[in-house]
Amino acid sequence: MRAVVAEKASEPEDLKIIDLPTPEPGPGALRIDVKATALNFADTLIIGHKYQVKPDFPFSPGFEVAGVVSAVGPGVTDFKVGDRAIATMDYGAYREQVIVEDYLAHPFPEAMDYATAAAFPVAYGTSYVGLLRRSHIAPGETVLVHGAAGGVGLTAVEIAKAAGAKVIATASSADKCALTLAHGADHAIDLSKTPEFRDAVKSLTGGNGADVIYDPVGGDVFDQSLRCINWGGRILVIGFAAGRIPQIPANLLLVKSCSAIGVFWSSHRRREPESLRADYRQLFAWWSEGKLKPHVGACYPLAAAGEAMRALLSRKVPGKIVLET
Ligand SMILES: NC(=O)c1ccc[n+]([C@@H]2O[C@H](COP(=O)([O-])OP(=O)(O)OC[C@H]3O[C@@H](n4cnc5c(N)ncnc54)[C@H](OP(=O)(O)O)[C@@H]3O)[C@@H](O)[C@H]2O)c1
Repeated sequence: MRAVVAEKASEPEDLKIIDLPTPEPGPGALRIDVKATALNFADTLIIGHKYQVKPDFPFSPGFEVAGVVSAVGPGVTDFKVGDRAIATMDYGAYREQVIVEDYLAHPFPEAMDYATAAAFPVAYGTSYVGLLRRSHIAPGETVLVHGAAGGVGLTAVEIAKAAGAKVIATASSADKCALTLAHGADHAIDLSKTPEFRDAVKSLTGGNGADVIYDPVGGDVFDQSLRCINWGGRILVIGFAAGRIPQIPANLLLVKSCSAIGVFWSSHRRREPESLRADYRQLFAWWSEGKLKPHVGACYPLAAAGEAMRALLSRKVPGKIVLET
């Protein structure tokens, strides 16, 4: 089977395709024949050994797959050969076959295609935990979503909307703003025209600011967000796509009586597998009701993983990018 690997600290162009023997699942694990895997921003970091997790070389990047179970190890009872499954991994998804732990695999709806299913687990999983389990958004609250046309951002727009919130999106172009509105945002702020979004957020919230801020961007966006957060608000630290990890002035938390809340979904899914299962049940129910519309902005063949990563870094492809085997 073919695998995309980083043999050393790599740029996307350095990734190689190699052949590996068919892997066999051990106890509590299953083998999935991968139909599709999806990109995440962190893939671009992990190949350069710039991510929290630094695997030994050579390794395959990739956190999520959708495919068909082709073997089960001893003790696996929830899956059988032939079942369709999505799964998440610490890394290693850019392969034609993967071994995953059974509690990190999940069934997905019959009507969902593999590309959509591959794009689903990390982004929707992260946004669900951030918005529902960590910041407990309530119907009628205002949620400000940054990077709102990106992989996790667009899912946050949809989940906040499905949970009854009012959503203000920010994105870097008119086209991206239009996409966020099509996915349910009530307002979109085009940062190419209004880089100082603080006043716009204030005026859209009657001067109060946003109740919850979902921030996968960091840097200046985070700094400015703390200046348009409501009394008692919550800012979710999701990621740092802008490249700078912001520092939080404690006086701003004090005067707004607000909270900064970290979200590390990769760890959450291992620590709380029961809640993860419940989250996917809810998310797939919303998908079946038409409340979630995963946006796959581009598909590439597995062998073009480097090119796909470059496309992600260009910020030109909205939603998720998928690799098909
Ligand atoms: N905490 C967690 O558990 C968790 C889980 C998943 C992802 N994340 C993090 O969330 C962030 C987004 O991940 P993703 O997979 O959604 O990535 P993505 O699809 O590339 O989206 C990132 C968005 O950030 C915005 N952005 C602003 N400045 C940027 C810059 N300098 N470079 C790149 N993008 C920039 C872009 O929107 P505009 O072009 O509209 O500005 C882009 O759409 C990453 O930091 C990732 O590590 C965290």
